[in-house]
Amino acid sequence: MKNILLLGSGGRECALAWKLSHSPLCGSFYIAPGNSGTSEYGINLPISYNDFEGIKKACIEHKIDILFPGPEDPLVNGIWDFFRNDPSLRHIIVAGPSKDGAQLEGSKAFSKKFMARHNIPTAAYKEFTKDSFEQGVAYIKRSEMPIVIKADGLAAGKGVVIAQTSIEAVKAFRAMVMDRQFGESGARVVIEQFLDGIELSVFALTDGTNYVLLPEAKDYKRIGEGDKGPNTGGMGAISPVAFADAAFMEKVTERIIKPTIKGLRAENITYKGVIFFGLISVKGEPLVIEYNCRFGDPETEVVIPRLENDLVELILKMHEGKLDEVTVQHSHKAAGAVMMVSEGYPGDYAKGKVMTGFEKVRNSLLFHAGTVSKDGGIVTNGGRVLAVTSYGENIKAALAKSYENAAHIDYEGKYYRKDIGWEFL
Ligand code: AMP
Ligand code: GLY
Repeated sequence: MKNILLLGSGGRECALAWKLSHSPLCGSFYIAPGNSGTSEYGINLPISYNDFEGIKKACIEHKIDILFPGPEDPLVNGIWDFFRNDPSLRHIIVAGPSKDGAQLEGSKAFSKKFMARHNIPTAAYKEFTKDSFEQGVAYIKRSEMPIVIKADGLAAGKGVVIAQTSIEAVKAFRAMVMDRQFGESGARVVIEQFLDGIELSVFALTDGTNYVLLPEAKDYKRIGEGDKGPNTGGMGAISPVAFADAAFMEKVTERIIKPTIKGLRAENITYKGVIFFGLISVKGEPLVIEYNCRFGDPETEVVIPRLENDLVELILKMHEGKLDEVTVQHSHKAAGAVMMVSEGYPGDYAKGKVMTGFEKVRNSLLFHAGTVSKDGGIVTNGGRVLAVTSYGENIKAALAKSYENAAHIDYEGKYYRKDIGWEFL
């Protein structure tokens, strides 16, 4: 039995908590800081996922064997190295990459150069700083529109601007690199070609040599139906993705997954964790939009329910470098998740709205995202509040069930998109 501490507090972590806590290999189970949903599966600890000293204390006190960082921040900030370099923590498995490995997500300039070194297909790009501002402006002016401006570092999902005109592009570029809209994250900027296609998310678990593929998914990022309005953390997700057939996945494997893992090894970068390939299919040819060093949200809310293997066993095999011994089973059933959010999100929104109707839900999984327990009940505590996930024979049947149950949950200002999975219905 392994004692596990999961870091994070979103819908992704609630889905991971559900999965990990049901493993026969899971001993005591803790989540830091967690939410109202995760407290159904383990014990929430009031520790921020960036508080390494607090996490260290909790790991020692609760005799943790496995630390599972849900979000990217602790990984990019080097939690793997922090554990590795501390004699009292070294025995603990950190299920994620080293700080160097997390650069795949932590620095867009790093990931673009990495892809160039290993011939991995991605959008053409150039990198600029304050000192090369004028060259950046000239580059924008001679490029085709739309064009994509990306802050190099983490920017809470807000560091990407798709500009339709060069005026818009220069404005975004200036705001990042000169005005430091995202602080140091924008000190360096990647300006890249806009790719027109359909996106999907592919997840691999790697031990640095071998890998296994988890179910693929597609998320829906815009707030409005018909993929309109501002970007959010994700309004829903589906799995499987119809166009990711065997022929397409073969291209993804040969051109992207294998060269990525081989490239990490060739560069002596320790990476035992999830690689999230944010891909786009342009006329059937896959390219990388971005790498992430952790699971996706809300993709996890459909990927994890479709993974039939024991996740703790996968983590142990990953740690031992024995993922080649594992055969991953994906459920033949489809899964669809609908994200219920607070009115006003992704802008300002109210918190603390009393939630009701949980007892009416039948045949769906409820993965809490922004909720907290209060006075014996549950209240909203974030922009994204609750993911309603269902299985079905196909995407349509799965989503129909999620919508039926989303209608039962009530709170003031509830909103969700009614068209998740629209391309596949
Ligand atoms: P990222 O933060 O890198 O995930 O980018 C956010 C979103 O911007 C992606 O999920 C895509 O929808 C979009 N995006 C990023 N780069 C490109 C690109 N080169 N071409 C088209 N869309 C892009
Ligand atoms: N759903 C996209 C992400 O987790 O980054």
